[in-house]
Amino acid sequence: MHIDFVTENTVDMSHFKFVHETPEMGSILELDPVDHRFHVRFSMPMKLYGPDGGGEVVDAVTEVTNWGLGLILARFTDGASLIQAQTPIDDTRCELMLTMVLPRNVSGSDTPTGEQLARFKMACRQVENDMVIWTHRRAGAQAHLVAEEIAPFKTFMKWKRQFYPAPPAVGSQTQRASRSESEVKS
Ligand SMILES: [Fe+2]
Repeated sequence: MHIDFVTENTVDMSHFKFVHETPEMGSILELDPVDHRFHVRFSMPMKLYGPDGGGEVVDAVTEVTNWGLGLILARFTDGASLIQAQTPIDDTRCELMLTMVLPRNVSGSDTPTGEQLARFKMACRQVENDMVIWTHRRAGAQAHLVAEEIAPFKTFMKWKRQFYPAPPAVGSQTQRASRSESEVKS
């Protein structure tokens, strides 16, 4: 997969409901691209997971910061954080490394137990859900966007361009072509 698939996830509010088990789509509260950082704050109902798997639904605000295209930090309402690092290997493969930081469990044990372990397993399951899409998606394929997704995606794509070489200007090729044409005529 291409590393862009991972970073684009951070502005894709629709996929949370269909891929990540959230009861509703999220809605973006803030988009803040500054230099190499892109911060997104969004609200979204979130199911809290207990040891038995079920859980109450709460209104949650999630803070996500992309640091360039290789590092994402997500901070969740329940105190958990996810650090996600993606390193390109070639055009179609990347190495993905994830670190989950959870509040220390009440017993003080270093071994995750109970709700803490359930939360960790839930996070692992969400990454596996994303992977099904990422590993089947073709780079360059254009996703169909619903109306409310267009502005955040445009903002994100504009920010992302700073990390890629600029495509050759359309005019420069035309100028070169017409110059060589006139050179042939002379
Ligand atoms: Fe996702």
